[in-house]
Amino acid sequence: MELLEHMESLAGALTERLSQVSSLPELEGCRVDFLGRKGRLAELMARLPELPPADRPAFGQAANRVKQRLTALIEERRASLEREREAALLARFDPSLPGRRPWAGSLHPITLAMEEVCSVFRGMGYEVVSGPEVDTDFHCFEALNMPPEHPARDMQDTLYIRDKVVLRTHTSTMQIRTMLQRRPPLAVIAPGKVYRRDSDVTHSPMFHQIEGLLVDTKVTLADLRGTLTAFLKAVFGEKTRVRFRPSFFPFTEPSVEVDMSCTRCGGEGHVHGETCRICKGSGWLEILGSGMVDPAVFEAVGYDPERVTGFAFGLGVERVAMLKYGISDIRLNFENDVRFLSQFTV
Ligand code: PHE
Repeated sequence: MELLEHMESLAGALTERLSQVSSLPELEGCRVDFLGRKGRLAELMARLPELPPADRPAFGQAANRVKQRLTALIEERRASLEREREAALLARFDPSLPGRRPWAGSLHPITLAMEEVCSVFRGMGYEVVSGPEVDTDFHCFEALNMPPEHPARDMQDTLYIRDKVVLRTHTSTMQIRTMLQRRPPLAVIAPGKVYRRDSDVTHSPMFHQIEGLLVDTKVTLADLRGTLTAFLKAVFGEKTRVRFRPSFFPFTEPSVEVDMSCTRCGGEGHVHGETCRICKGSGWLEILGSGMVDPAVFEAVGYDPERVTGFAFGLGVERVAMLKYGISDIRLNFENDVRFLSQFTV
């Protein structure tokens, strides 16, 4: 039976082919050649009708045996190729090396400071509002009691978009926008970006402020004082001392500047016998501008200054972040250097 011998010889032929196979794709090619639908075994099986009927069952059984043998040979080679591949991989890869931590993002120090300030005021019942960075001369100056000849409106200080349209120089625009939209009583804070022609170690042409405004009947300077003292202690610690100095802003009367004891020397003015470089030896840091809302401002927004009173304050967020986190140069905040930013992961 020539056909049967031919078939029995397939195992030997495959073994020889397998000795030359050196990769899994090659092995697959080999499998298709021998066991595929048009492979060598299938070709022989297709010739079954050539045999006398009496020989056919034996041939069929032999075919099954050969098929199992061929399959076993291929699977054996597959297992050994997979072991070789793994060994080659391990030779290049040391699983005992320590892993590398994935980089985790973090919030920007300005964002952290802003959120902390906002959360303290939210806790006191203030609502957070926001408004445009490009605003009108009316919201930025006119309604805030700064008439056209006022020096704060100088081209030297203000970035104009076009006539009567400016990049807001302070978040006090939000005092006007809020009062035009609502009736008292109200208590809001407005965080956001502001712009001035200014740039050095402590000044950046864009920086962040948080405006506060509270309007009701019978609001006094004592309320302002209590509120800002509580706020500063919440952010900088219970030991923080606070001092109020008379000052001037066109839109508040009276106006007060708020100082707090130095975050570095604790108000001593010196550290280890050296003059404190943060407060320059005075023990105090200026942190807020504030005052009682000027009657002229109430009039500009249609509030009756005989009926309502209120206070407003403005806070520089960069200053809060720099004092809280010990950042020495304001420009670090805007360079987005990961070596700086990654220090604020919590
Ligand atoms: N707008 C003032 C500034 O930018 C700060 C301020 C706000 C002062 C509210 C008084 C009241 O300097």
